[in-house]
Formats: sequence, structure tokens, C-alpha cells
Amino acid sequence: MNIIPKLDKHLKKPLYIQLYQYFKEEIRSGRIPSFKRLPSIRQLAGDLHISKTTIQWAYQQLLAEGYIESKERSGFYVVEMESQPFGHIFGSSEQPIPSPSEETEIVYDFYMSHIDVDHFPFQKWKTSLNQTMLSDPKELLFYGDRQGELELRIAISSYLRQSRAVNCLADQLVLGAGTQTLARLLCHLIGHEEQKVAMEEPGYEGVRHVFQLLGFQVIPIPLEEDGLNVDELHKSGAKVVYITPSHQFPLGMVMPVAKRMKLLKWAEENGGLIIEDDYDGEFRYHGKPIPSLQGLDVNGNVVYVGTFSKSLMPAVRMSYAVLPERLLTLYQHSYQGYDQTVSRLHQKTLQLFMESGEWERHLRRMKKIYQKKHDILLQTIHHVMNGSVHVTGQNAGLHVVIKINSDKTADELVHIAKTSGVQVYSTTNNWVYKQKEETPLILLGFGGLSIEEIQEGIERLHEAWLPFYR
Ligand SMILES: Cc1ncc(COP(=O)(O)O)c(C=O)c1O
Repeated sequence: MNIIPKLDKHLKKPLYIQLYQYFKEEIRSGRIPSFKRLPSIRQLAGDLHISKTTIQWAYQQLLAEGYIESKERSGFYVVEMESQPFGHIFGSSEQPIPSPSEETEIVYDFYMSHIDVDHFPFQKWKTSLNQTMLSDPKELLFYGDRQGELELRIAISSYLRQSRAVNCLADQLVLGAGTQTLARLLCHLIGHEEQKVAMEEPGYEGVRHVFQLLGFQVIPIPLEEDGLNVDELHKSGAKVVYITPSHQFPLGMVMPVAKRMKLLKWAEENGGLIIEDDYDGEFRYHGKPIPSLQGLDVNGNVVYVGTFSKSLMPAVRMSYAVLPERLLTLYQHSYQGYDQTVSRLHQKTLQLFMESGEWERHLRRMKKIYQKKHDILLQTIHHVMNGSVHVTGQNAGLHVVIKINSDKTADELVHIAKTSGVQVYSTTNNWVYKQKEETPLILLGFGGLSIEEIQEGIERLHEAWLPFYR
């Protein structure tokens, strides 16, 4: 059997689609007859000088559409062609939905918590790590400061003052192994007076779980174009609100100053407390940097929470809360029995990394890299999916949300994407009330993908969704 497809790497159409279309035509026309065994993946990859994954994808597509079948330990065979091979047709015979396949391998993962590992400063981090062990290794083997190592808190507070306009002294900072750990601490602190907490709808489910597990009633507050609906917050009667004002999670809008002031006024008039989660505030690509809400507050009604998970790495498990006076006093009196959850050695390493100037350099560099990825992502979406999707929440952070012009649900679109080797994420879990889903919403993280992967991933996603746009 002569397999001579015309494959062109310069075409926008991915190679696996070109190969799949070639086989489809050959089988339909009878040039590759029924029951014929196709060359093995390894053999064809060698003959055509292309990757095995490309062949695998093409075969999977043919399998999914019923042109070929797989026989265990034998290979891929063309099905009997007298029978109609297009069994599972959705819409048109040209664009059947791909069936899920156990063998489907995820090639492009748009996971929002992935960072760019290729540009992680391994060498510099290693230097700080080595210095950690040289500094005073015996002392470091003991328990440390319960709030977090003082020198590190000094470094973080100075960074927060300069970069995020947060009003804070090292004494107000409490470190914790992740935002959920800090949320748990905050629940204990506020639980003395209040058992209700308002949250953005949709909002960050990681923190919502903590509130719910600790018996708090979570009140979802709808969002407007510019973030939380403050009037609804008033009506809810809640005294505590958890929000992500600088890059709403997941939808990504930025709360403008006027609304921030309105929210602060709500807190002032109601004895309210605002928990501001500034999880990716370091990365703002276009437009002016947005100072923290905490920095605008003169009444001590805001708890500022931040993390090193986006800016450095999630594995270090290091987040921090800046407590206002009213919680700090309570914390210092009642919670000094709480041990610090972050490794002392990691704290020391981060302190040295920050003091050496590497932290600032790393941030500057990553901002440029992520900005480039962000811009390419938007350009590719615009170019490839033009008109079929609408992007929200751009210009900051490591993810955007797309609204897809489709009658399918977000979960169905995630499933369809997966059958093409693209992992994307629905926002379904971020809602307390199930989303009405007039328009399905999909989260696309871009931090962990290369520029090429972003482009190819979006192209492949578009191919997969093409039959399902409205
Ligand atoms: C809104 C929000 N806050 C905080 C975090 C980070 O949490 P952690 O500090 O536990 O890594 C994330 C991670 O994705 C997030 O989406």
C-alpha cells in the first residue's frame, strides 16, 4: 500500500488533520480497501518523518469516526465499507463529534495553576537554597516564629508597600502554607462574631470550600461588569466579604476605584470586613497597575491576602495575610498556639532570594514573558476563533475566560476538547447556584504553555469546536 499524503507544515491546518483527511479520502474512494491493515504508528512515523503523536492523532480521529477499527496486538484496520461508516453523526457528515477515547493523550493543557517552568530561575534559587544551609543551619532545625520568620516578613512587607501599595508592617503579616490555610485561620478569627460570609458569584471555590467546611454560610453575590454588586452585598446582611478585586476569579474583571471606595464605605457603615485576595496582582499587562484595595482603606477593615503560587511557584506553599489591627490583636492574644505551617528552610531561602534582588528581577522577567504569552493567546483566539468566542478578564494574571457561542454546555465543550487532546476547564465549580449557561464559559490558563503550544492548542481547540459553534 502506498501512503503518500501531501503534508505541509506551513499550513495553518495541523498535520494530524491533514493526515486524517488524506486517509479519509483514500478509504472513502476505495483506494485503501475494506479490511486493509494500516501501517503501524511507528512505521508510518518513520516513513513520513513526522512524530508518532501526529499519526496517533490522525488514527484516533479515524477511529472515532468509524473509518478504522483497532484490533488488540494486531493494529488498525479499515472497516467494511459497504456499511455506512458515519454512525454517530451530530449535525453534518463532514463534522462528526469525536468520541472519547481512553488513549487520548492531553497535548495542550490550559491549566490555570501552571506556571512557566522553563523560565524558573533554578540556578538562583539553588544559590539561595545553598546559602540557607550555610547561614545558621543548626538554629534552622528548630521551630521558628509562629507568624513567619521576621526577616522574611520584613522583605515581604517592603515589597507589598512598594509594589501593591499595601499599608503594612512586618508585624501585621502572618505566613501560611497556601491561601486555604490562611482562610482557615481567618475563619477562626472572624468566627467569634460572624458566621456568614459573602462571596463573588462565580468565585474561587478553593476558599469557598474552607468557609463551608468550617460551617460558615456562604452568600453568593452577583457580579456586574465592574465586579461585585455592592448593593446586593448591602441587602445580603453579611458582615464579611471575600473578593478578588484586581483580577476577579474566574471572570477577570478589575474593580475600578469608584467601586472600591463604595465597598470600603459599606465596610465602614456596617462594621464590615473585606478579605481581599490579590492572588495574581503582580501580573498586569496593559493599563495602569491597580493599587490594592487595602491601600485605600483608612479604617482597618481590609485583610489583604497574597500568594507566591503564581509569581514564584505553587510548590513552595507560601501565602501571607496582612491583618488589620482589629484581627491582629485577636490573633496575638488567642492564636499564638498555632504553629507556623510553612517550612522554616523555605522561608529562609525565599528571604535570601528576595534580599539578593533576584525576586524583583524574576518578577520583571516573568511579567514580560507572561505578557507575551497573554498577547499571543488573545491574538490567536481573535485570528482563529474570530466571532465564535468572546474573551473576558484579559490584561492581567495567568488566565482568561472565553464565552463560546455554542449551544453546548461548558462541560460538553471541555469533553469535546479533550477528545482532541486539549484540556480546558469549565467554570461550573465556581458557582454556588448552577450557572444558567446561556453562554458556556471556559477558563484558559496560559502560564505553563509555550508560545507555540498556545497557538497550536487554540487551533486544535477551534477545530474540535468548529461543528458546535452557533
Ligand atoms: C483566587 C485564588 N486565590 C488564591 C490562589 C492560590 O492559592 P494558594 O496560595 O493556596 O496556592 C488561587 C490559585 O489558583 C486562586 O485562584
